[in-house]
Amino acid sequence: MKYKKWIEQMTLEEKASLMSGKDFWQTQDIERLGINSIFLADGPHGIRRQAVAADKLGLNEGMPATCYPTAATVANSWNAELGEKVGEYLGEEALAQRVNVLLGPGVNMKRNPLCGRNFEYFSEDPYLAGKMAAGYIRGIQSHGISACVKHFAANNQEEKRMTIDTIVDERTLRELYLTAFEICVEEGKTKSIMSSYNKLNGTYTNEHMHLMQDILRNEWGYTGTVITEWGGSNDRVQGLLAGNELEMPTTAGETDKEIVDAIKSGQLSEEVLDEAVDRLLDLIFSTEAAFQKPIGQFDVEKHHRVSQKVAEESIVLLKNDENILPLKFGKKVAVVGEFAQNARYQGAGSSIVNPTILDHTMDCFEESGIVSIGYEPGFERYGKKNQQKIDQACELAQKADVVLLYIGLDEATEADGLDRKNMKIPDNQIDLLEALYEVNTNIIAIISCGSAVEMPWIGKVKGLLHGYLGGQAGARAILRVLSGDVNPSGKLAESYPLRYEDTPSYKHFPGKEATVEYRESLYIGYRYYDTAEVDVLFPFGFGLSYTSFEYTDLKVDRKGVTFQLTNTGDRAGMEVAQLYVGCTSDNIFRPKKELKGFKKVFINAGESKHVRIPFDNKTFRYFNVKTNKWEIEEAYYTIMIGASSADIKLQQQWFAEGTNAPLPYEKEKLPSYYSGKVNDVSVEEFEQLIGRKIPEPTWDRTQPLGYNDTIAQCQYAKGWFGRVAYYSIIQTQRFLRKIGKRSTANIMDMSILNLPFRGIARMTGGIVNMPMLDGILLMVNGHFFKGLWQVTKEKAKLIKAKRKSKADLMKN
Ligand code: BGC
Repeated sequence: MKYKKWIEQMTLEEKASLMSGKDFWQTQDIERLGINSIFLADGPHGIRRQAVAADKLGLNEGMPATCYPTAATVANSWNAELGEKVGEYLGEEALAQRVNVLLGPGVNMKRNPLCGRNFEYFSEDPYLAGKMAAGYIRGIQSHGISACVKHFAANNQEEKRMTIDTIVDERTLRELYLTAFEICVEEGKTKSIMSSYNKLNGTYTNEHMHLMQDILRNEWGYTGTVITEWGGSNDRVQGLLAGNELEMPTTAGETDKEIVDAIKSGQLSEEVLDEAVDRLLDLIFSTEAAFQKPIGQFDVEKHHRVSQKVAEESIVLLKNDENILPLKFGKKVAVVGEFAQNARYQGAGSSIVNPTILDHTMDCFEESGIVSIGYEPGFERYGKKNQQKIDQACELAQKADVVLLYIGLDEATEADGLDRKNMKIPDNQIDLLEALYEVNTNIIAIISCGSAVEMPWIGKVKGLLHGYLGGQAGARAILRVLSGDVNPSGKLAESYPLRYEDTPSYKHFPGKEATVEYRESLYIGYRYYDTAEVDVLFPFGFGLSYTSFEYTDLKVDRKGVTFQLTNTGDRAGMEVAQLYVGCTSDNIFRPKKELKGFKKVFINAGESKHVRIPFDNKTFRYFNVKTNKWEIEEAYYTIMIGASSADIKLQQQWFAEGTNAPLPYEKEKLPSYYSGKVNDVSVEEFEQLIGRKIPEPTWDRTQPLGYNDTIAQCQYAKGWFGRVAYYSIIQTQRFLRKIGKRSTANIMDMSILNLPFRGIARMTGGIVNMPMLDGILLMVNGHFFKGLWQVTKEKAKLIKAKRKSKADLMKN
């Protein structure tokens, strides 16, 4: 142990006290020994250090900080060095705001396009997500503070995220859902990791010995700290045993006492606690050291400009018929769409940043050199169809050479705690597009949102630019691409299906009441579309440029590939070359191709560059469920270099020596997996894959409600009180939606309905403790008065105890 001397001086109670927060954002201090609290703050694309009251919903503003483009956006740059740059700038701001642990990046896979937090995650591909995130982590930690990669693991939806049980086979878990985390540990050297809220194959991730011990600590050799999701701790002692050092936020000492009791009763050995304290002290001391040097304010303007650069490199040009872009000098442009006036630049929830500066399109027009003849909103962001606004927009569009149409999703649609209901851009915006098309067919749509959307209307636009969520300078960055000052170089980090129904997890998202079954196994995103030969709107890795590139001369050797990349157009540009590998043998089912490397290259017009992409320990591996190890199948592999997953420019066969492992599957029993057509896998076949019976997917309505049941389950509570409470919440939500308060109604889903009962105690910082919670459960389970008495009695005890400890403190 590194801090043995310190630990020896601590009482058992002091050691346990370190294991949970002091308040919402800080760790516990021990004044007597000079151990200070450290500060944790969101988040992934800007610091959210809350100045006033803390909350986890992003309701109270944070101190002003640069809002960088979100992870979904930066992933489109396919530039891990750019990710590192973002990390460095984030880290500098964290230092300036005295934040020791930055709660990000988030590397969960985009299993389904409707996940409400896709805007905060990088990709549907673990390799790309891992490489980008490792860059962020290196950047953040270069300042001596800690990143906190989240949410570990298999948390790929927001619906019932605090209770849902993810049912997934071990190979898929390893190859898809853990690989990005593995890269963050291996290459990013992250100092902390946040466990997720959900269960994984029956056990809360925070208590999952296989995940936390076998894989994270033993296999990956992780020596850093594990922090719970906010309010995500279930059984504290079990969590500690699994290696969770820090529970957040505070439970006012209640769970620390559970640790002390467990040690006193022999349930837990004191050594486990000592080791956890040792690792936490390392986080505290090492990040505190970062503040030893003098720290000034950060340069707000400079950070704003960097954020603009990052956005510029992440914008994706999706369509450019008749080379309508870049805009030709002197063209008269009509600007339409409410998003041009009020930029949509970030998501909602815990990642929300209070920006230092905020660019809006209409304010940046002058400097762009584009000649605007006027602006019309055309629709109301949160409203219904408005014919008058449409007519006014059409009148303007008639007079223009080109229409720039700014559309997207509103802030309430992409949020922490909530999934999207569909993949559509709201009807009132599409009504506008259709009306505009009648008067002017030169339409360029600019989309602002953080996730994939359907585009049945795409035939009505000639140009299409996807800005994703470009951060506080995103609006200016888009104008620079439109004007041609910047040559777009972003490529999609996720596939765009033609229709939501085409997604492989369509039938199993967001699962039933208790579980979500990952029946599609390895085949998410392009891994599915490509293998099952399902047409998409835009493939993974796709993006256009104002120039063109030619790929030639592929050479493969034991260590990697080399090829020539030539800019055959008339202007400088950047190309993202992608390395995919597919196996020619069909002994083990696999996607047709998988991303194994990529490189972003800048090339001047007419020039060529020699590009090398090395192989690494992930190039040929697969996880063998028989040997329970990573293995290599001895076979010929197709090595592909593509401009996207669907546009392979060069390919060559390569023989890789194997590890001689036994074949893990009986092929005839897994026909869907061998064909890749996994959109309708039967129960039997899925059970064959996971090697056990599928757990009951629905709530058990016969039992009284317990700690891990959600408040939504009060709808069938045995007592009238529970049912009345449930229906009152539902009515309030309906009312809020009716009066246009959609966002508040949504927050009720996450913070009330989907909250498990234990969350009441875990999230109220000691205002409600576990004995009071027992009383509440009695009330909802049909023992109203007995429960009420218990709540009242326990509250009185709590108040008395608090008064006594205050008085003791005063005496001392
Ligand atoms: C979110 C985390 C966040 C934490 C603290 C949770 O609800 O899921 O991503 O870091 O709150 O705000």
